[in-house]
Amino acid sequence: QKVLVLNGPNLGRLGSREPDIYGALDFSELTAAVESAATKLGLSADVRQTDSESELIAWIHEAVDAQQNVILNPAAFTHYSYSLRDAAVQITKAGLKLIEVHLSNPHTREEFRHTSVISGVATGVIAGFGSDSYLLALAQLAK
Ligand code: DQA
Repeated sequence: QKVLVLNGPNLGRLGSREPDIYGALDFSELTAAVESAATKLGLSADVRQTDSESELIAWIHEAVDAQQNVILNPAAFTHYSYSLRDAAVQITKAGLKLIEVHLSNPHTREEFRHTSVISGVATGVIAGFGSDSYLLALAQLAK
C-alpha cells in the first residue's frame, strides 16, 4: 500500500526552525525515518513538502485519483485554508483515510492554533509526539 505523506509550509526548515518546539530532526531525517518505518510495516511512503497551497491541493487530488491514503501535516494551513479542507474532504468521501498529524500539540500553543479547519474532514488526528506522530499514523494505516 502506497501512502502519501504530505507536509505544508515551513516544514522544509525543520531542524533549524524553532527546534525547541519542532525538534532537532531536519526534514530529510524525518523523511528517512518515515520511509524506513513504512517499509517495516509493509507500506511504501511517498514523503513530500511544499510551501505552496496550490501544490499541496494538487497532491491531494492526485491521492484521490490514485486511491491512496494520506498522512497530512498541513502546518499553518491547518488553521485557515478552506481550499485545503475542500480538497481534503474528497479523500474521506472516496473511502480513503486521511490522518492529520502535527509535531507539536497546537492546543497547548497560541489561540489561533487551537482551530483546525482540517480535523472535521480527517479520519483521525495525531499531535504532540514529534516525528513519532507520523509513525503512529503509519501504524494505524498498516492495520
Ligand atoms: C504544525 C503546527 C502548526 O500550528 C504550525 O503552523 C506548523 C507545524 C506542527 O507540526 O506542529 O507549521 O503543524
